[in-house]
Amino acid sequence: MSENKIHKEYTNDEITITWEPNKCIHAKACWKGLKTVFKPLKRPWIDPTGDTTENIIKQIDKCPSGALNYYYNNTKTMSEEVKQEPTVKMKANMNGSLKVIGSVEIELPDGSTVVKEGRFSICRCGLSENKPFCDGAHKGTDFDANWNIEKSE
Ligand code: SF4
Ligand code: FES
Repeated sequence: MSENKIHKEYTNDEITITWEPNKCIHAKACWKGLKTVFKPLKRPWIDPTGDTTENIIKQIDKCPSGALNYYYNNTKTMSEEVKQEPTVKMKANMNGSLKVIGSVEIELPDGSTVVKEGRFSICRCGLSENKPFCDGAHKGTDFDANWNIEKSE
């Protein structure tokens, strides 16, 4: 599967914030959470000097799609999430997708594989036009992502 690989970088003294617009599902978590850094109406829209590096990293870690990431300038090492064992997190309707953290190889129906690292979201509403990945289409629908063990038995 070919992917549009636009990759942008924004640097302060300590880290470089990376942004891959094709992964962004416009969940708005970044600019609602840290308005001094993530400014969607400005160009460039990310100001890496707008808050402390610690606060920026905390906010980046909340990006549900993995569009935002970072690496340390001195070591070039990326977020710890890239290296961790794969984990899948389920949230209620607020974010209908399955959030995957870690490095995962996904086999697609045509037999090809794609490796995803860090953080990304898998569609579970069935509406994404970029399956198996979430493209934010669940928003604005009455999709009920609430789920628990009892319901599945
Ligand atoms: S998906 Fe990530 S980069 Fe895109 S708007 Fe949401 S928090 Fe920001
Ligand atoms: S869960 Fe987001 S598009 Fe389906």
